[in-house]
Amino acid sequence: MRTDVDLPLVVDRAAPLPLVVQIGDQLREAMRSGALKPGERLPSSRALAALLGVSRTVVADAFQQLYAEGWLDGRHGSGTYVAASGDGLGRAATGRRRGGGERPEDDPVMLAPRGVTAGIIDLRPGRPWVSGYDEAAWRRAWRSAGELAPSGWPDPYGHAELRELLADHLRRARAVPTGPGNVMVTRGTGNGLDLIAATIIRPGARAGVEEPGYRVARNVFAARGAEIVPCPVDGQGVIVEELPDDLEVLYTTPAHQYPVGGRLSIPRRERLLAWARRTGAVVVEDDYDAEFRYDVAPLPALHGMDPDRVVLLGTLSKSLSPDVGLGWLVASEGLLAAVARRRDELGDRTPGPVQKAVATLLERGDLDRHLRRMRLEYARRRAAIVEALGPLVQGDTAGLHVMIELPEPVVPDLVRRAEERGVLLDTTGRHHHGPPRVHGLVLGYGYASLADVKRGCAVIRDLL
Ligand SMILES: Cc1ncc(COP(=O)(O)O)c(C=O)c1O
Repeated sequence: MRTDVDLPLVVDRAAPLPLVVQIGDQLREAMRSGALKPGERLPSSRALAALLGVSRTVVADAFQQLYAEGWLDGRHGSGTYVAASGDGLGRAATGRRRGGGERPEDDPVMLAPRGVTAGIIDLRPGRPWVSGYDEAAWRRAWRSAGELAPSGWPDPYGHAELRELLADHLRRARAVPTGPGNVMVTRGTGNGLDLIAATIIRPGARAGVEEPGYRVARNVFAARGAEIVPCPVDGQGVIVEELPDDLEVLYTTPAHQYPVGGRLSIPRRERLLAWARRTGAVVVEDDYDAEFRYDVAPLPALHGMDPDRVVLLGTLSKSLSPDVGLGWLVASEGLLAAVARRRDELGDRTPGPVQKAVATLLERGDLDRHLRRMRLEYARRRAAIVEALGPLVQGDTAGLHVMIELPEPVVPDLVRRAEERGVLLDTTGRHHHGPPRVHGLVLGYGYASLADVKRGCAVIRDLL
């Protein structure tokens, strides 16, 4: 069924409920009652906005919320439909092939990622869904950046306004008792790692990196002259008892180990900090995807448990887009001052307009709203993976990827046969420094739509 429906919607500007909520509630009710049926096509946001006399952003926001809840199914260029199961969160919408019809800009709901090769399903980790952003908020943020006069002297710490907003965000979202004096604005995790390495790593120093672990951390430390020491992890994160005593620095991902997915328990966190105090090592905590968490309560960041020993690195790369190029480095004031001096010596900085745009997104609550929408979206994809691959799935409590452990010999053949069927997969082997000790797949669900995640998992299940 591909007809546009007639919608008996009304909006009341005098009512206390925001227009977005009024429209969302009425559409939800229409789907619940059967007035709108699965597969029916909704009018474009432009047409509906004109009909109701509201701005297109209001309708787009209402559609976006319903999409995230699972009521709607929308794909680039083909319109917005009532989802096949039509009963909200947890029942996934069916995907729809791109087709003719409305122009892409008529459908702002979850546009398909740009640059996707038709027919290819990319389940490799590392990339978020960048199409679910609020276009009006994004434009507003960059307009505000344009109003800022260029600075002749960039502060190595970053803009005071943004540091204040980030400290506030960290206190609320990550239970980090910090203030702007402990926050430096970086261009992302890679930049933060490099600044720390340039400040504390002496040539030949031993730098511990989780094994398997984040390739960029190994590369950055090695490029600054460190000897890389692989530190084994298990399903609960880094194994503290196996850490050597002579590390100058340890890179770790306690909220969601990359790529195995373990969450460092509180007792392990305490043992890790005791090890760091005893040996004098600096712990670098990469908090890259901690905003996305499913079915479990958040654990406070390691940094909050010992702000003098732990440097926290955060990024917008997963929560918004790597293209923004913004992150933060949180450390004790003494260490941060040393990093700022080194940054100045290296002529390194974060562009002012980017900082201003991000400050606007934070200040207006746009980033929080985006995170809420994306949490729902990712939760649906993660649920689809768990449903399809069940007990094989590990590390699914957080983030945008899971791991599937498999016997070593089956992996290369599986990856090759999946690729023949249009599904791109990543292996745990690629994330090792030394000989692989964990074998299997790392499945990312940031970049593929829900429908593609389902199709990709069906192929994997078939091949297994
Ligand atoms: C473990 C880990 N940390 C951090 C990042 C983000 O890095 P950046 O902020 O440099 O884009 C990623 C992105 O893929 C990642 O996988």
